[in-house]
Amino acid sequence: MITLGIETSCDETSAAVVNNGKIVLSNIVASSLSLHKKYGGVIPEIASRAQLEFIYSVVSRALKKAKIKIRQIGLIAVTKGPGLSGSLLVGVSFAKTLSFTRNIPLIGINHIQAHLYAPFFSKGTGNSSCRINFPFVGLVISGGHTSLFLVKDFNSFSLLGRTVDDAVGEAFDKAAKIMGLGYPGGPFIEKIARKGKKGAVKFSCGNLERELDFSFSGIKTAVLYRINNLCRLSGSLQGARLNNQDKADIACAFQETVFDDIIKKSILACQRKKIKSLVAGGGVASNNRFRDKLNNLAQNYNIKVYFPQTSYCLDNAAMVAGFGYQLYKRGISSGLNLRVEPT
Ligand code: KG4
Ligand code: ZN
Repeated sequence: MITLGIETSCDETSAAVVNNGKIVLSNIVASSLSLHKKYGGVIPEIASRAQLEFIYSVVSRALKKAKIKIRQIGLIAVTKGPGLSGSLLVGVSFAKTLSFTRNIPLIGINHIQAHLYAPFFSKGTGNSSCRINFPFVGLVISGGHTSLFLVKDFNSFSLLGRTVDDAVGEAFDKAAKIMGLGYPGGPFIEKIARKGKKGAVKFSCGNLERELDFSFSGIKTAVLYRINNLCRLSGSLQGARLNNQDKADIACAFQETVFDDIIKKSILACQRKKIKSLVAGGGVASNNRFRDKLNNLAQNYNIKVYFPQTSYCLDNAAMVAGFGYQLYKRGISSGLNLRVEPT
């Protein structure tokens, strides 16, 4: 069965055509990122207007690249949330219209859960796609979410832990902004952290009553204080005045501390649930330092880690289509009364 996936939860407009939930025939992603850069974060109103501008051509390009006619589509899977309400509405309205006019079944998809489908597109042995057995612990680390799940099947997710304040990607973006780096901050921090001296700066992540929850707002503030101290300009954001070694040391300490915290809790979740497979997804999972650290530590506990290909870490419609196909196969679908679920 051929599924058309549509993803419009934030600043990316994406459409994908996926065969039998496994073979990605096309995955087109357009982004309004350049329009938000000067604000240092995504502006919802600008994002939703861009979604409207992009959606028709992105879906058309996805079909064309896949060499698939709309009449060959057996299912439309669309992100229903969480995300920005205006942006979500564009994708959901478009999907409903196509579903109604072409009489194609429709399914609304949870964006966070869809991130955990991305590793299923990775190559397994030979030409087959990656085989990941249930149950597994799912770790979603993105700009909007930091969550640990116990996943027993594609339709069985239980939340084990989540951030109580900033998402990890959000913390990277804010720390980068404080340091005067670009947006989105993750790739900038990863790059300069390579030149940082380990141990030159020390940070910590918040200790929480619920051991599998996360808190990243404290470390972001610690970065701000550290920079203010260094600049002797308390209260103002003068990241640009720091020398490059200071920035690298701070970036390195920030990244190591945040990743140690996430990895410790992910392994604890596996131990508590007696699970030997850990599946990671979301934009931050594209960080190579994170991949190395997690792989190394997980090995000591005999836990196998699955990552998406880098191109499927960030928001994309292939993961929505693939995940939608799996749910549809399990008898789940949506009606034309499908609503967006921004939170
Ligand atoms: O999954 P995603 O595209 O969006 C959400 O669903 O939120 O993730 C975007 C986030 C941004 O916060 C970005 O800074 C972060 O992923 N990110 C990274 C890296 N690449 C992207 N964080 C750390 N290291 C990276 N290499
Ligand atoms: Zn996402």
